[in-house]
Amino acid sequence: MRLNEKVAIITGGSGGLGRSIAAKFVEEGAFVTIADQDADSGQRVLAQLQSAGRSAIFVKTDVSNRAGVARLVEQTVQRFGRIDILVNNAAVLGENGHFLEISQAVWDHVVSVNQTAVFICSQLVGRVMAKAGRGNIINISSINGTVPLPRCAAYVAAKSAVESLTRIAATDLAPYNIRVNTIAPGPIENRPPHLDAPRPTEDTLLGRNGLPHEIAAAAVFLASEESSFITGERIAVDGGMLVNGYRIYGVERPA
Ligand SMILES: NC(=O)c1ccc[n+]([C@@H]2O[C@H](COP(=O)([O-])OP(=O)(O)OC[C@H]3O[C@@H](n4cnc5c(N)ncnc54)[C@H](O)[C@@H]3O)[C@@H](O)[C@H]2O)c1
Repeated sequence: MRLNEKVAIITGGSGGLGRSIAAKFVEEGAFVTIADQDADSGQRVLAQLQSAGRSAIFVKTDVSNRAGVARLVEQTVQRFGRIDILVNNAAVLGENGHFLEISQAVWDHVVSVNQTAVFICSQLVGRVMAKAGRGNIINISSINGTVPLPRCAAYVAAKSAVESLTRIAATDLAPYNIRVNTIAPGPIENRPPHLDAPRPTEDTLLGRNGLPHEIAAAAVFLASEESSFITGERIAVDGGMLVNGYRIYGVERPA
């Protein structure tokens, strides 16, 4: 088991990708705290994790609220004694809106959950990790931080910021033996019925959407000792969408 007895907080752990990351972490031997604002799905995910026979807790948390995150940190340390891994996965897409029309309220909400919360969680968990002299932070951005999704200015700007937050956090936290990396997912199916058969798409080089377990596998790799010399890095898990020259140049694919 690659994460044996590691203690991990996964934000947005009730959602499509978060619950898959949590399940994979538990399978690899980790103790997991699910932090999500959605208590119903949180409790469902918790029951699934506990039926796998490992200790896990759910803490209802708004990750953009500093006092709430402080309680999350406190409860995790109280239950498990330390925090080894933080996965900043919670996010909202936000209302789509043209740049000229997007409201200040939508901008503020999306930036607070997708960007400011990554800072808050990383800082408060980072302080615990720094005291322990080790830690591992994984931020979930999006390929939309690089290729803008039209009419999603706040989401795009925040995801881009998550990648630069990763680099500065990796820089400032390296002296404490804390690694910080980003996973940038491409199009990932996050609910049934496509979890068994991902939809085909010409957008990716691999000709299909991705699956949550493919993001979870990258998270396990970054959380484990297998990636011990990787920090400040971004791994795109996107089926080759960012480098899809067929799509960009309109070149016909070989059959
Ligand atoms: N699914 C995709 O195709 C895709 C592509 C690129 C990036 N991503 C990124 O992957 C991550 C997970 O996405 P997903 O598809 O599982 O989305 P999802 O909507 O299924 O899950 C997001 C989770 O975050 C939680 N959340 C939202 N606001 C919160 C808050 N303020 N406090 C605490 N929890 C909050 C939600 O309750 C939900 O459980 C996100 O960061 C997303 O931007 C997903």
